[in-house]
Amino acid sequence: CGGGDDSGDGGGSGDGLVVGFAQVGAESAWRTANSESVQAAAEADDRIAELKFVDAQQDQEKQIEAVRNFITQQVDVIVLAPVVETGWTDVLQEAADAGIPVVLADRGVEAADEDLYVTRLGSDFAEEGRKAGAWAVETFAEDPDGTTRILELQGTTGSAPANDRKAGFFEVLDAEGLPYELVDSQSGNFTAEEGKAVMETFITTHGLDGIDLLYAHNDEMGLGAIQAIEEAGYQPGTDIQIIIVDGSKAGFQAGVDGKLNYIVECNPVFGEQLMDVVVQVANGEEVEKFTPVEEGVFDASQFEAELPNRKF
Ligand code: AHR
Repeated sequence: CGGGDDSGDGGGSGDGLVVGFAQVGAESAWRTANSESVQAAAEADDRIAELKFVDAQQDQEKQIEAVRNFITQQVDVIVLAPVVETGWTDVLQEAADAGIPVVLADRGVEAADEDLYVTRLGSDFAEEGRKAGAWAVETFAEDPDGTTRILELQGTTGSAPANDRKAGFFEVLDAEGLPYELVDSQSGNFTAEEGKAVMETFITTHGLDGIDLLYAHNDEMGLGAIQAIEEAGYQPGTDIQIIIVDGSKAGFQAGVDGKLNYIVECNPVFGEQLMDVVVQVANGEEVEKFTPVEEGVFDASQFEAELPNRKF
């Protein structure tokens, strides 16, 4: 994989690094906070001359085009938050051939492409799924009906967080032997609108009586689903237990309002850490292949106290 230009002036100025950042989009509060964190950290960092920022609108083709433009512009380091896990081999190879190191931020790519990027800084999505699964086991182990009936709102199809949050969650349920039925599982593409629409379809198809748990892979889909549940005349958080992942202010507020039951944190505020990694990589220093960001979990007893601490 490309080791970078030791002079650190591949992008031109000589007075700092030129970094290209191909961001997923602006689909969630999490994403907006992540973009702001990275942009603010680059702006404040004397080691960074310029951050070229592209919002790919959740479209892989646009991200690939952005990476190709960064290669043409000979930036020093490319930061990529890949919208999905597959389909990156060619463009990552092109970056490697051009000697431009690639740092993955947030999401990962498939294992086969592991040699084509230097490092990934972001969440351990499988661990997030395991945390959600552990709470489900703890909550429903004594379920008098015997079988826990689950609806799942998955993130963007083929994305690392959707794949891994699902895998981690069911890994724990299976390992712990919780009797469950996955009644339905569809993608809501990490947005509130699609989360709401899918939840409406779930309600039309299955009803909500007898459904125990909704596992939403992010806040926006969970919040959209809460609207659909209320419009159908049910009480979210009471008639159906709800887990979300992220932990935005809006997510915590819904928790304080009693509309959801468990929050698995996903932390987007890693801009400063990312700048350190970018500089290390540009200097050809050894870095870990994966650096996880720190994340917690919150149940109903913690929502109110934690709400003022939320940064996004
Ligand atoms: O990749 C992180 C995920 O992407 C966040 O959980 C979600 O809100 C965002 O859209």
